[in-house]
Amino acid sequence: MCGIVGYIGKDASSQILLDALRRLEYRGYDSAGIAVISEKRKLQVRKIKGRLSNLELLVQQKPVTGSCGIGHTRWATHGEPSDLNSHPHTDVSQSIAVVHNGIIENHEELRAWLEKHHVDFVSQTDSEVIAHLIDFHYNGDLLLAVRETIKRLDGSYAIAVVCEEQPDLLVVARKDSPLVIGRCDDATLIASDVPPLLSHTKKVQYLNDLEIAVLTKDDVKIYNLDGDEIKRDIETIEWNMEAAEKCGYEHFMLKEICEQPKALGDTLRHKLDKQGNLVFPQDIETMIKGAKHLLITGCGTAYHAAMVASYVIEQVASVPVEVVIASELRYKTHIRKEDEICILISQSGETADTIATLRMLKSLGIPTLAITNVVGCTLSREADKVMYTQAGPEIAVASTKAFTTQLLSLFTIAALLAKAEQSALLDALKNLPGQAQLLLDRLEDIQRFAANQFNKTKVFFMGRLVDYAISLESALKLKEISYTHSEAFAAGELKHGPIALVDTSTLVVALCTQPALYTKMDSNIKEVKARGATALVITFEEVHTFDHTADMIFRIPKTHPLFSPILSVIVSQLYAYYCSVQKGNDPDKPRNLAKSVTVE
Ligand code: G6P
Repeated sequence: MCGIVGYIGKDASSQILLDALRRLEYRGYDSAGIAVISEKRKLQVRKIKGRLSNLELLVQQKPVTGSCGIGHTRWATHGEPSDLNSHPHTDVSQSIAVVHNGIIENHEELRAWLEKHHVDFVSQTDSEVIAHLIDFHYNGDLLLAVRETIKRLDGSYAIAVVCEEQPDLLVVARKDSPLVIGRCDDATLIASDVPPLLSHTKKVQYLNDLEIAVLTKDDVKIYNLDGDEIKRDIETIEWNMEAAEKCGYEHFMLKEICEQPKALGDTLRHKLDKQGNLVFPQDIETMIKGAKHLLITGCGTAYHAAMVASYVIEQVASVPVEVVIASELRYKTHIRKEDEICILISQSGETADTIATLRMLKSLGIPTLAITNVVGCTLSREADKVMYTQAGPEIAVASTKAFTTQLLSLFTIAALLAKAEQSALLDALKNLPGQAQLLLDRLEDIQRFAANQFNKTKVFFMGRLVDYAISLESALKLKEISYTHSEAFAAGELKHGPIALVDTSTLVVALCTQPALYTKMDSNIKEVKARGATALVITFEEVHTFDHTADMIFRIPKTHPLFSPILSVIVSQLYAYYCSVQKGNDPDKPRNLAKSVTVE
């Protein structure tokens, strides 16, 4: 979940590294640091606790020079956020520096071994062992030293290494943590993700697990652990810089919420032919239509997309769907069903638990289909088949447009499998991007509501069926960025416990988009109101069932009730966003969270 960057070229590297780190700050922001080799072959390290702005100030006060360097922004796992625990880490003589994203699981054993070899450690991190091991194996050949080092590491890593003695080289390696190489005419860059590369190049190469690359300013050579050179194609990224910038919005999260009509439109377009018919690549269509059982998995928000999909697919296609959180599925005994396929959902395609689950399922021989937003991510490379969402880069930690485009992709699968009404479902899907825009045109209504309600100490979301799944997602969004205690309940379960928590300080948001269950929901709203709660209802236009029960009603455009999640969640996203801003939080970088969870 940390971010790493590197640059080797003809220009001064420090500002390039700082700019690149700025675009990776969503991956961690406990501390930051850079290491640059000067023209006089001196390693200069600047690192400091706190946000990147602290590092920028430090570099202003104590500048570094040189055109080869590495950088890091940290999400702390081993050792508290502090100057000493910040990366880059160096060997004892401070001539080799390393940045690391991941977890070295055998670090205690390696630390004890290195201590026996008279190495004094300065930090509490697992990463520091890497710098000392490289030094131990270094004999004038940095590639060889890195190769010998990674043979001794258990766990996950993306690392970038520089060495005073070899100032024209940057060596990188990875296993189970992302790393992308950017190719320019007169420079080579690396980063944990694509956005930092976009202002320099759209030409990239991906490193696979257990590969090492040696970078110079105009060349890249990739090797496996046996030292054999591997040829790797250069790919072109389709995103532009604008997509990775705030473009006048106060926060990435608001920009990404507002981009949903376009993201939904782009995702749907990829599934339609010129006549507007649903078209899937033949191999994916065969895989999906041949399945008698669907298993869907993911973590966090992606898991909520899986939950929504299970209700929708079972109702329209009568195919049994099992939904399990990836961090559970990877450890539980999974009984393989007849003609079962698994759909794995992940915005980043790098979530450690989702990838471990994918490998477990493949070992059981279950065909896998990934739904992801990032071209070339680990999930896309390892799954049997892949469907991309077209959301563009999602920078804010809390997922918004990635979620709704995941839903849309899953809804197209439901429409593909639909036993009846396929054209009505497709028409409803085609209307969603425009309806999302109509909703966003009224964002001030939600801003006003948040301005009145943001200091509520308890917020409960409730709903039934897909509204329950969206209640879970809404509560997650609110707790992630506003730090408000929020929970979600299946509305029918309220009386089995949660209602004991309801009092006059509680806001209850009732999602009511399932016409057959309006009266049941109305009774639940009455129950919480009778205990003093304030009730906000989210329902469709022209529904009047709740007029005399709710304190406030927010109406979303009318769509097929199974597709309401794409619209109702936009209300919750905006509510969470405005509550966060009202409380003075940074919604893009919520405390303790990182966007890409590449550790378990
Ligand atoms: C983190 C993020 C969430 C995201 C989850 C899964 O917890 O903060 O927004 O839903 O990871 O990420 P993925 O990239 O696999 O969708």
